[in-house]
Amino acid sequence: MHVDPLEKTWVWLASAIAVTFVVVLIWAAVARGIHPPSNVETIDSASLHLSEEFAEDNLGVHRQPDGSLKVVMVATRYGFYPQHIEVPANTPINFRIATTDVLHGFHVEGTNLATMVIPGFISEVNLAEGFKTTGTKPMFCNEYCGLGHHYMWSRVTITDKAS
Ligand code: CUA
Repeated sequence: MHVDPLEKTWVWLASAIAVTFVVVLIWAAVARGIHPPSNVETIDSASLHLSEEFAEDNLGVHRQPDGSLKVVMVATRYGFYPQHIEVPANTPINFRIATTDVLHGFHVEGTNLATMVIPGFISEVNLAEGFKTTGTKPMFCNEYCGLGHHYMWSRVTITDKAS
């Protein structure tokens, strides 16, 4: 079978690119330990207020014995609760978020912190080194959830670790 030399070059090039992608994927998964979010934890979205963790009085920032923080939030049409949290910079944070109704998103502007908040599940995000910069940032819903979607945001104030 005759294959044009130029075509042969492209076949090899395309194959090399595909092989490179697979190698990088395996390397990231095995050597770097990078995996898709794997936290599968279910909750009844309709009765969040009756659960211990997501009851109104227990929302917000909790200091853990090891010095890290746990932030528990509820996403609902159309807001996040609490509407304002304050955390120190450079402190590991474990975010746990659940929705009372439909699918929402959770994104902190200027960071790579973004997750879906799916009805029936608890979304967990670990910021291993915490926020790097101080200041007040908006936390947005980035999944269309209804007519009030673009009003759905709250704020995080990141303070100096020392203060
Ligand atoms: Cu919630 Cu968009």
